[in-house]
Amino acid sequence: MRPLALFAALLLLAGTAAAAGPSMDRPLADRPGDPARGRSVVRDLSKATCLICHAMPIPEEPDHGDVGPPLAGVGARLTPGEIRQRIVDPTTANPATVMPAYFRTEGLDRVGAPFRGRTIYTAQEVEDVVAFLATLTGE
Ligand code: HEC
Repeated sequence: MRPLALFAALLLLAGTAAAAGPSMDRPLADRPGDPARGRSVVRDLSKATCLICHAMPIPEEPDHGDVGPPLAGVGARLTPGEIRQRIVDPTTANPATVMPAYFRTEGLDRVGAPFRGRTIYTAQEVEDVVAFLATLTGE
């Protein structure tokens, strides 16, 4: 019975690991992310603002989208590594997602001319947005 129990425990562990979304644990920039800057980056209309699709706890912002889930509480649901992975390339979590990849240039279709060969965010902007989202642990 013993080895079987061990096997079951291992299976359970593997199951837990698979349930978490893909994660990118290494920061992309040397400077740590700045949540206050991230809060303004997510609203930047020149960079495919997250607010087109997500409601965010930014009360002074009049328009919030509902294509994606509300991001209040996302810092409690996902680890910083999982948030980073979503922003860099959300197709790793959902190949059919409508969410843009903010830090990937390969394998994209329908990229507007000004963005071709460029990422939407810089590495530092990704880190700032990860830092901001990580602070969203409340409702
Ligand atoms: C065009 C619409 C769109 C835009 C723009 C967009 N997203 Fe998303 N996002 C989605 C959708 C839809 C989902 C739901 C899951 C999926 O489709 O992969 C999602 C899922 C997420 C998730 C996972 C949420 C959870 O609770 O599991 C995070 C985090 C996220 N988006 C962050 C962002 C951030 C940050 C930005 C801006 C930098 C952004 N999104 C821009 C559509 C969008």
